[in-house]
Amino acid sequence: MLPKSKIEILEEKSQLAELGGGQLRIDKQHKAGRLTARERIDHLFDAGTFVEIDKFVTHRCTDFGMENTKPLGDGVVTGYGKIESRLMYVFAQDFTVAGGSLSRANADKIIKIMDLAMKMGAPVIGLNDSGGARIQEGVESLAGYADIFYRNVRSSGVIPQISAILGPCAGGAVYSPAITDFILMVKETSFMFVTGPDVIKTVTNEDVTMEDLGGAMAHNKKSGVAHFTADDDEQAVMMIRELMSFIPSNNMEDPPQKICTDDLERLEPKLDKIIPEDPNKPYNMFDIIMPVIDNNHFLEVQPHYAQNIIVGFARIAGKPVGIVANQPSVLAGVLDIASSTKAARFVRFCDAFNIPLITFEDVPGFLPGTAQEFGGIIKHGAKLLYAFAEATVPKITIITRKAYGGAYDVMSSKHIGADVNYAYPTAEIAVMGPDGAVNIIYRNLSEEERKEKVIEYRENFASPYKAAALGYIDEIIYPHETRKKIVQALEMTKNKTDNTPPKKHGNIPL
Ligand code: HXC
Repeated sequence: MLPKSKIEILEEKSQLAELGGGQLRIDKQHKAGRLTARERIDHLFDAGTFVEIDKFVTHRCTDFGMENTKPLGDGVVTGYGKIESRLMYVFAQDFTVAGGSLSRANADKIIKIMDLAMKMGAPVIGLNDSGGARIQEGVESLAGYADIFYRNVRSSGVIPQISAILGPCAGGAVYSPAITDFILMVKETSFMFVTGPDVIKTVTNEDVTMEDLGGAMAHNKKSGVAHFTADDDEQAVMMIRELMSFIPSNNMEDPPQKICTDDLERLEPKLDKIIPEDPNKPYNMFDIIMPVIDNNHFLEVQPHYAQNIIVGFARIAGKPVGIVANQPSVLAGVLDIASSTKAARFVRFCDAFNIPLITFEDVPGFLPGTAQEFGGIIKHGAKLLYAFAEATVPKITIITRKAYGGAYDVMSSKHIGADVNYAYPTAEIAVMGPDGAVNIIYRNLSEEERKEKVIEYRENFASPYKAAALGYIDEIIYPHETRKKIVQALEMTKNKTDNTPPKKHGNIPL
């Protein structure tokens, strides 16, 4: 037999690397309802754009007989490719090789990608599917994690970082995704936890399943750690593509604009009737958001968590915007610990990446109660105040109904730097609702007299006119014109410059 040519050797090695941990383990991965690392990358990037780096890297471990098996690529596929023609970096952990566990060499591959992404000003997408630290490599693996965490932090606010959890992600390994901007999880096949069910049983004697502890819904609904849920791997990577369509490649770029096919002057007469006569009756804030944005296209972030506030991406006049909106149909749209932290993190993301903020406000105040006070609503509510005040992107606020108390100040009010403040004629801008106010200032009057005072208060104070008289509201708008007014405000603020005083960094109440 003729010796193999150098080209044939390369071809053979390449095929071997692409087979990862072998066909048996690939079949096992498929049987578990998961794609392989390479299949995920294929779905993620525009066809034919993926360029692999470090395909032949192997681990350098000589303990536990590891020197006898050196799979090419060592459990992670790394490289770059394009989403809608824009450069993105990726690392995809390959569960078929040592359970995608993180070795020193494997960490070095990820680090190389992260460093390149920072230099080129392009996002990093992590497709996580790993048994955690490569047990055989001990502290070298821990060092690899720390090197990744360090880069996650240095890249934060400079380039977008997205994490999809597509299998296990346990122990300290969770802290890399946690630092990134968005986490996606797949139902039933992914999980995240610091300590698993067995350790929990030993320490606290609680019985909990993997799914209940760290599955997609546990983190999308209960803990608020994750931002999106997908039914399978394919849907998860499609969601990443959609998310990236709203986000610039780095903090020096504007978000990607698209040609707007929706009428900029479109009027929506149904909005004039949307706010119920009865101020205590709920309505659905989506009924205002959807007709106002381009083509009804809204990518909601954390749709299952703290539903009393809505956050997400949309386009107006083709430009990406971040929407923050109280939801009167859930807990009357009240601000509590979960909704404040959810919105604060979103506001900070938009501000870091030059995405204008549109706030729709209908908020009766902060949620009372010992659970909230002892849980630290003071510091958590302050996060949202801090985030809005710190944001220098264009800020446009529309008060649809209630803007009571401290929540009026917090929700992107004129006083904390909003550029354009609109109110519907139905707006009620006051220290508190009429009943609460009358019960305090007229507590000695009879019930009959207090009823009259409530009516008087509602007419005089629960309206937008006092605030408009003081210039705190720029314009009281007809609801049917909301879209046109936001388009005008975005146009007016498009060249906004606003600098914060030089400092190392602020001290947001954590
Ligand atoms: C080396 C590992 C590994 C690991 C899995 N494998 N985890 N190899 N280091 N951490 C290997 C297995 O030996 C097996 O090899 C293959 O990957 C698939 O694993 P299975 O157990 O067969 O798969 P499955 O039944 O699906 O279970 C997946 C799993 C389980 C739940 C992730 O493997 C597991 O519990 N692994 C250990 C998890 C862990 O404790 N990691 C350390 C966490 S602490 P073969 O050759 O048979 O295919 C940590 C610290 C990070 O990560 C600190 C950062 C600061």
